[in-house]
Amino acid sequence: MKRYFIHTFGCQMNVNDTNRMSEVLAGLQYQPTPVAEDADLIILNTCSIREKAEDKIYSALGRYRQVKTQRGALIGVGGCVAQQEKDKILKKVPYVDFVFGPDNISKLPEILDKVLIGRARVVETAWVDSEEYVFPRADPESSRGRVTEFVTVMKGCDNVCAFCVVPHTRGREVSRAFPEVLLEVAALARVGVREVTLIGQNVNSYRGGLGFDQLLLRVAEVPGVERVRFTTSHPHDLSDALIEAFRVQPKIASHFQLPVQSGSDAVLKRMRRDYTVQEYLERLAKLRAARPDIAITTDIIVGFPGETEEDFERTMQLTEAVRYDNQYSFVYSSRPKTSSALREQEWGEIPHEVKVERLDRLQKLQKKIAAEINALHRGHPVEVLVEGRSKTDPAKRFGRNPQNKVVNFDGDAPIGAVVEVQIDRTSVGALYGVQGRTLLAPTIEISEAPLAPELCAVA
Ligand code: 5AD
Ligand code: SF4
Repeated sequence: MKRYFIHTFGCQMNVNDTNRMSEVLAGLQYQPTPVAEDADLIILNTCSIREKAEDKIYSALGRYRQVKTQRGALIGVGGCVAQQEKDKILKKVPYVDFVFGPDNISKLPEILDKVLIGRARVVETAWVDSEEYVFPRADPESSRGRVTEFVTVMKGCDNVCAFCVVPHTRGREVSRAFPEVLLEVAALARVGVREVTLIGQNVNSYRGGLGFDQLLLRVAEVPGVERVRFTTSHPHDLSDALIEAFRVQPKIASHFQLPVQSGSDAVLKRMRRDYTVQEYLERLAKLRAARPDIAITTDIIVGFPGETEEDFERTMQLTEAVRYDNQYSFVYSSRPKTSSALREQEWGEIPHEVKVERLDRLQKLQKKIAAEINALHRGHPVEVLVEGRSKTDPAKRFGRNPQNKVVNFDGDAPIGAVVEVQIDRTSVGALYGVQGRTLLAPTIEISEAPLAPELCAVA
């Protein structure tokens, strides 16, 4: 039997795609190996969101070259860099055998035939028509033993943010029909999953036969489901209906990842984000009124072309005003084919040292705020869905509270239970405490032992 190794970069969409690749390869009698050096087939599932992400892929390819020399392993490049660079990858890296985009995962058998039998180097990056796109159905058995799982509800993105490569790498929005989503969630619940995260590049513009708010409400009603999450959203789709869903359905977990990108209206306009800071704050105030304990997290880009010190100060002020539970902040990176890449000269590039210094200031402020927010939990109980042994200390258990914060605790609650944990210590990134009363028993027994070794690396 031949063995494969997949190195996954980037977001949850890519992790999901890796699972789909694994399913296709299993059908071809390939077996996974956790060690790249033992593989007959190495696939890099790539991310191109920022330049650094892309650099990582070329350095990983350099490392895998040896496996090719030593045992003749095939090397394939999939994911977002593949979609963006196409045959350029074959030209740049002579030992890559094939390149395939996210819409072409089901073509892996034909691609491998062409490479192995036809001795050809192959590029497959055509889009599948929206009407013809079929969302692959995940095998629920592969989720047995997990209490949290991701469910794809849409793919692609129709927004026009000036900095973003995603519309070029993931194509137009396509939503998955809601009955299919509900069937998948029900199948997951039957194997013990209690928390589902609905994923897509732009989930709240979902159009699969129901509004996104209605989809969330229907998923929350699936027997066995205790928590529903979703990611990622655009502020212009944070509708009153979605806010209402938070008000009426407590199973929609108290966390909203709402990327703002900048605290300056001038920068937002150049980014083509179609909202002002004031509008964003008004939406947020409404959401917080509907769900007062909601955790808000965001994405920020620092050093977008033309960002003045004053613009950046506005981002600092917004950070203080919102008091985010967490921020994912990045320095602006020029991406091929994006509209901002074409206008950097005109708007004015920000020197690298200035970007890095601003990022550092912002991250220091955010860390202080996150530590302060987490400290408010000290001396109080939080509700935790138990996921397993703590990653930092195997003697402890770990899970998350509704706000999506990691909680490490002393106790013996079974995986899949919902328990109260009395918090006695907090840090910027986690809460620590002692198990209290059990709120819900697990739906099925889940083994403590890891089910399988990590089969692919995620960067
Ligand atoms: N440069 C820096 N950060 C970017 N992001 C997207 N494109 C870029 C870019 N060109 C960030 C945004 C987005 C997150 C996923 O990545 O903040 O929300
Ligand atoms: Fe990276 Fe975006 Fe592609 Fe995800 S969709 S892998 S974040 S470029």
